[in-house]
Amino acid sequence: NSNGSVSIRGATYTKDPAWFNVPSNVLEATSRRLHLQKDHPVYITRQIIESNFPQPTYKYYNEYNPVVSTNQNFDSLGFPPNHPGRALSDTYYINEKTLLRTHTSAHQADTFRANESEGYLISADVYRRDAIDRSHYPVFHQMEGARSWDRDKVPNGDIAAAVRDDLEKLPKHNIEVEDPNPAFHEERNPLQDCHSAAEAQAIGEHLKRSLECMVVDIFSRAKAAAVKEDPNFVDEPLRMRWVEAYFPFTSPSWELEVYYAGDWLEVLGSGVVRQSLFNNAGVPNRLGWAFGIGIDRIAMLLFKIPDIRLFWSQDQRFLSQFEGVSDKLDTLRRFAPFSKYPPCPKDVSFWLASTSAAGGNTRGNFHENDIMEIVRSVAGDVVEDVRVIDEFTHPKTGRKSLAYRIVYRSLERTLTNEEANGFHEAVREALVKELGVELR
Ligand code: PHE
Repeated sequence: NSNGSVSIRGATYTKDPAWFNVPSNVLEATSRRLHLQKDHPVYITRQIIESNFPQPTYKYYNEYNPVVSTNQNFDSLGFPPNHPGRALSDTYYINEKTLLRTHTSAHQADTFRANESEGYLISADVYRRDAIDRSHYPVFHQMEGARSWDRDKVPNGDIAAAVRDDLEKLPKHNIEVEDPNPAFHEERNPLQDCHSAAEAQAIGEHLKRSLECMVVDIFSRAKAAAVKEDPNFVDEPLRMRWVEAYFPFTSPSWELEVYYAGDWLEVLGSGVVRQSLFNNAGVPNRLGWAFGIGIDRIAMLLFKIPDIRLFWSQDQRFLSQFEGVSDKLDTLRRFAPFSKYPPCPKDVSFWLASTSAAGGNTRGNFHENDIMEIVRSVAGDVVEDVRVIDEFTHPKTGRKSLAYRIVYRSLERTLTNEEANGFHEAVREALVKELGVELR
């Protein structure tokens, strides 16, 4: 990677210094492709999801390049020009028009345009600047799926009847969904003009049944794995509910939530594809649904993996536990932690360089994600958690002070105190150098 350009998966891109914000650890992750690494939990979870959407109805795309255009990632999906997701604080850019995809939906338009099948599944690595804790990592994986019908190909052009026919052929499950039909916001999530009520209804039902069956399958596999570990394992019956959601590229839109460990957990986003996407992709006669699901979070609960950083581990004590599972999915077992190494929490507090007020997660003249990235760049996968523990404004000077707690903990070995101090010292220096803060 020379100064003016960067190479990612064999292609070279021109960096714009005003935009380029990809740290080297994230750049290195672009070559890992965990979803294509046999017997890796992310690969196995992909296989399980795929098994619920069989070929040839669904065609699988697992090789799309992570470098996409702003058009693919945002414009083609109807994101407005000022959408916060486009900000440098949230997204990794190569230059003004080129970025690391933040979601697999970046390939919706191209895949609809290719028009190679009635349905598709896309799995891929995705990239987001975000907080640091045990369930957030700047690189993770998503699975995107869609199913559509062509008005010109269904009998009598009757989409609603065709979709209902296909619904009959889907598997069933016996879970009672708690809110199967949430009301949706008339303006945010209108029924699209181009769809009759019967069409939208049938497409929504097909979407819901398909996704519910997938989630039931995942959770029954998670339960089987839990029982292997502990024959006396009893879990509560699976609870699911649909909630209204908003995505610029679907309407109406829903999220599916599952009750897990005492909380409702969002597992996927979905909706009826906005017709403008099909029109712009040159397939105006198609209509249908799409969904997107995070693979890593699902893998964490399937395998009971306590920390998302483990996926990136090359330690045989991690990887060897899943050997052979790709070829025989019912041998899936829960992860057995090899050891829990002690945490090294260290605090840092500082005065902000500027007192300029800013909202949201923006603190002073920088975004909290900038702090996250500095820590990750210094300490790599040895950092487990970063959070603000104190925040105050001096009553006289109006200066603002922040304190963060950084937990250093390796998943593979015990850190010595000197090592943790070394990381922490380097973090302190980087905060001064890159954010201009004054340490306290
Ligand atoms: N891309 C959306 C996300 O990352 C998920 C989604 C995919 C929603 C497809 C609707 C349809 O949150």
